[in-house]
Amino acid sequence: MVKKMSVALLPRLIEASTTSIECAIVIDVLRATSVMTTAGKNGAKTIRTCGEIEIARQLADQANTNDRPLLCGERSCVPIDGFDLGNSPAEYPPERVAGHHVLLTTTNGTKAIAAVADAERLLIASFLNLAATVDSVTEHDELLIVCAGTDGKISAEDVLLAGAIVDRLMHHNPSCQLDDSARLALSTWRQASQNEGTVGDALRLSLGGSNLIKVGYEEDIGRCAVIDSAAGVVERDQQQPDERTVVFRWRGETVC
Ligand code: MLT
Repeated sequence: MVKKMSVALLPRLIEASTTSIECAIVIDVLRATSVMTTAGKNGAKTIRTCGEIEIARQLADQANTNDRPLLCGERSCVPIDGFDLGNSPAEYPPERVAGHHVLLTTTNGTKAIAAVADAERLLIASFLNLAATVDSVTEHDELLIVCAGTDGKISAEDVLLAGAIVDRLMHHNPSCQLDDSARLALSTWRQASQNEGTVGDALRLSLGGSNLIKVGYEEDIGRCAVIDSAAGVVERDQQQPDERTVVFRWRGETVC
């Protein structure tokens, strides 16, 4: 049963030494962690995150032809020149990703992951796999939820999902201890849930949402706002090939 939950509203607000974190969940609703969930559900063999474009290119070039990963990601929400896929969940259907390794680099999400890469257990989460993520962490004593934010600023879409996770875990243990950021996330989520609008409406108003609308990816907001369409978790693998990347695997039902 989770006894203590903390939320870092930005990666730089993480307090403890990350090696002492029992379980960390990284959130970048728009769109890195929604893309990772989609890739996993749709059969990607592994999802490897990397902070730097050049390192991602080198790793892809060094791979055997049979095992070459799909190079994926964005900068400023826009696909990267020469990469196979951008950062829209629509680009990750089973016919494109099943049986492939995905190597992803994004502006904020993959850097937030790197900030807690040493946590004892590390998951990423999205609205798409909210229930599965919550179910998979109920046995931990302590949990840290890390919001990726947008270009160093707190973004409401990540805070909303952090609040939704806190809310669901509070049902398991109503006396769970929360830090102030977790309380803020919880009240943001509860207030949004009482409003007439949908999660998608709330995401449209967020910083990440308005950035996507500006560059023509408004439809992705709806794709990332679907709750519980994916029955599984995206979890860091036991074996990590190097310190520049973090390898995740999907654990759950696939659609292919
Ligand atoms: C990020 O990691 O910064 C985001 O996923 C940006 C985006 O939505 O393209």
